[in-house]
Amino acid sequence: MTAVDARAARRATREDRRVVLHAHRAGYLALRGITRLGRVVRVPGVGVVVSDAARMRQILLDPTTYSKVGPGGSDQLWTPIIGPRGLLNMDGEEHAHLRRKLTPLFSQRFLRSIVDEVLTPEMARFEAALARHEDVDVVAVIERAAARIICRLTGYPEADAAAQLARAREILGFVTLTTKQFSDAQLAVVHDKLAVLNESTRAAYRSAAPGTVPALMRAEGITEDDTVSVVTAMIVAGTETIVSFAPRFTNLVVESGHLAHLAQHPEDVPTAVAEAMRVTVPSPVMIRSVLRDHRVDGVRVRAGERMVLANIFACARAGDFDPFRPVPKEMRQLWFGAGAHFCIGMPLATLEAEVFAAALARAAAAGPIRVVTRVRKQRTMAASYRRLVIRSEAAAR
Ligand code: HEM
Repeated sequence: MTAVDARAARRATREDRRVVLHAHRAGYLALRGITRLGRVVRVPGVGVVVSDAARMRQILLDPTTYSKVGPGGSDQLWTPIIGPRGLLNMDGEEHAHLRRKLTPLFSQRFLRSIVDEVLTPEMARFEAALARHEDVDVVAVIERAAARIICRLTGYPEADAAAQLARAREILGFVTLTTKQFSDAQLAVVHDKLAVLNESTRAAYRSAAPGTVPALMRAEGITEDDTVSVVTAMIVAGTETIVSFAPRFTNLVVESGHLAHLAQHPEDVPTAVAEAMRVTVPSPVMIRSVLRDHRVDGVRVRAGERMVLANIFACARAGDFDPFRPVPKEMRQLWFGAGAHFCIGMPLATLEAEVFAAALARAAAAGPIRVVTRVRKQRTMAASYRRLVIRSEAAAR
């Protein structure tokens, strides 16, 4: 097979749009309306909304004009949560320096240990349940895997993985597409939840617990406080994104019919994952603060204004899910950002996604898989399903 069934792919893509709509009704509709007006649009009270992949990449690659730090920038939202030095709220030389120190973190050795000790056993259970023709909730499967990975990052005991994930998610539960700042009441709850996560990070750091990120960071000479900030940032940025992606990927490949191809051609899994990232864009919007007056595509932009980079709408311009068409060059990896803040967890996220997709493809090789139940999440930051139950069809025979 060298082409996707266009009608099935369209239906699958539309269903994914509905998932996003359910998560952010008002924000999504407003942004969609704005991006239909043009690729660079000034919106009073919101900022300048950009939905063109090439332009967005230029903005992300220009740190002298656009910053994470400043009025309307993401630091205003995140600094009270993650502390002042958590990567995603830093800029300039300090940011570059901390990132350089973190580069060895996602080494092949560390990633291998995540695969061997967390993902392989979780995926074996997943495949075995499908082989028994049981109903399997993909959301529950990926949540467990994500929770165990959080434990690895924080050094928290894996026995309490579910509680750990619940805490991380409550923090994100307060954020919507348009949130600029947390309220005092929200901050109090968030700090309460974070206290437990932060304590385990500090304990792992102090005892240099083998195989944990805090221990690896300590070995790189990073301070305890910076370690807590970075680990919190990783939890904030890296949990809901993957929990958002895996069920939406599943729905896209099942409903478009592409899973049957992957069952026969597992070597195409990475391409399918990349194309599904382009369609789903699990981190749908990026924010920057403008540092100097200038024009973007004729639109006036002033220092202190907010740039809203509507990534999900920029990537949607390439059309429906089609893993046989190469991702347009200007969009490549844009779902992980670009430039100085490019997703530091990209190797881990890609690995999690591809290992999951490969397990699904292997299961599909034994018999067709269908979606039995689909429950979309309402009003959450990371669009996804609350439940996505699949079954290996052979069960019905
Ligand atoms: C499908 C999964 C993921 C997606 C789509 C994603 C997307 C992104 C994007 C778009 C950015 C850049 C934001 C900006 O420039 O404003 C980013 C940054 C970041 N991501 Fe990811 N991410 C994913 C998974 C992860 C994972 C698994 C981790 C950690 C283990 C992680 C940790 C981070 C951190 C710490 C940053 C901030 C980096 C910096 O500011 O220097 N992400 N991510």
